[in-house]
Amino acid sequence: MGAFVGVKTSYLISRSFIRPVSPSAAVRWRPAQLRLFCSSSSPDEQKPRPSMLRHLTSKIKATGPITVAEYMREVLTNPVTGYYVKNSMLGADGDFITSPEISQMFGELVGIWIISEWMGAGRPKQLQLVELGPGKGSLAADVLRVFRQLSSVVGGASVSLHLVEVSPVLARLQADALTGSSGEEADGDEDPVYHRGRTRDGLPVSWYRRLDDVPAGFSVFVAQEFFDALPIHKFQRTDRGWREVMVDVDPEKEEQLRFVLAPSPTLASSTLIQAGERRNHVEVCAEGGAIIQQLARRITDGGGAALIADYGHDGTKTDTFRGFKGHQLHDVLSSPGSADLTADVDFSYLRKTAGGGVACLGPVSQRNFLKNMGIDARLQVLLRSCADPSVRQQLISSYDMLMNPKKMGERFHFFSLLQLSRLARPTAPNGLKLEKNKNPAPLPVAGFTELQYS
Ligand SMILES: C[S@@+](CC[C@H](N)C(=O)[O-])C[C@H]1O[C@@H](n2cnc3c(N)ncnc32)[C@H](O)[C@@H]1O
Repeated sequence: MGAFVGVKTSYLISRSFIRPVSPSAAVRWRPAQLRLFCSSSSPDEQKPRPSMLRHLTSKIKATGPITVAEYMREVLTNPVTGYYVKNSMLGADGDFITSPEISQMFGELVGIWIISEWMGAGRPKQLQLVELGPGKGSLAADVLRVFRQLSSVVGGASVSLHLVEVSPVLARLQADALTGSSGEEADGDEDPVYHRGRTRDGLPVSWYRRLDDVPAGFSVFVAQEFFDALPIHKFQRTDRGWREVMVDVDPEKEEQLRFVLAPSPTLASSTLIQAGERRNHVEVCAEGGAIIQQLARRITDGGGAALIADYGHDGTKTDTFRGFKGHQLHDVLSSPGSADLTADVDFSYLRKTAGGGVACLGPVSQRNFLKNMGIDARLQVLLRSCADPSVRQQLISSYDMLMNPKKMGERFHFFSLLQLSRLARPTAPNGLKLEKNKNPAPLPVAGFTELQYS
């Protein structure tokens, strides 16, 4: 059965705004080529960033080897020298490119999904759009354009945008994209909102460092290539049981880091490995698990839904930790702070940590999700409205990048958390038999089943 997206999707799909896109660049989903164990950074690598490397080596010398999670957290989000804190890494002149940067169609279809879920929840009066790790703000801008175009549908709701972002550099780009010059910094350290503004349509936008700080209430959460940037613990099965992989200073080369195994169980290796685990090497993103639990609690208490898009697997992969710099794979221990670090998302772990209080859908491939959301029709409309051959070619090649199974189509997945009531069929009033089938199919959810136009 096809999913019924209860909005005038054909109306949106027929709108012909075309957003300029940056020149094509490499995506960052290629698998790791460097094996982890016994690897240390190559001496030929470019000179390390002194402050981050110095910070890490003095920390390790003072307190001993650190976990991979601590290494990743320091390298990516250290408030002074972290990669995300200091860099604008997205785009052709950065280190990698993402789906919302490749094509406006991605964000537009996510916008339709959000409206569909808001309608599925009975059109609550307040709607908070919450994006985790919004990058350059392109996805949010495309979503808001859909809201503008469908104002006859969503106009009755009071909509606000809430962005969770650790990077001041990216927050500035997001503010430019979404509010122009209308924003203002927070008054003091006490305020969990560090920047606020209004979109061109007058919608309030607030920036937070942590999800915890976002107000409660009916919310639709979006996290696109966010979970893969969170710190992972790595574990190796040995003859003596599971041991955690740690980062140490190479005793023979002062300025180099290397991986070692903890000699005895650590707190993480004792608590994070699932009973019955069959793999020999496992990566666990405990921080991602904690965020999923928070999302699940918020959805149960205040209503709403979460849509997570990322590369990942369902509990099958082992060593996926890798670095990206200038659109090339990069040794994770080399020049810390100068390259992006990432690991595939384990959706089976997210599902387990979400618990039974919410329904989990997916993962479904990006290709299937976007197809179910109507990307083919959307592409045709954009092509029909565009005479410029180079823009037409750009639209076709960006569609191919998002959808081709050999490119992003099969590698990226969508996963969703929903209120349990969202999937429940109405129960029959006393004495009335509404359903012949005792186990009726769950209500369809856009993207996860085939779309029908309304
Ligand atoms: C790989 S980028 C993806 C950006 C954007 N979603 C896209 O697809 O273009 C990861 C984003 O998450 C942010 N980020 C990384 N770790 C974070 C954390 N712990 N808390 C909040 N934001 C974080 C980064 O600054 C960046 O905006």
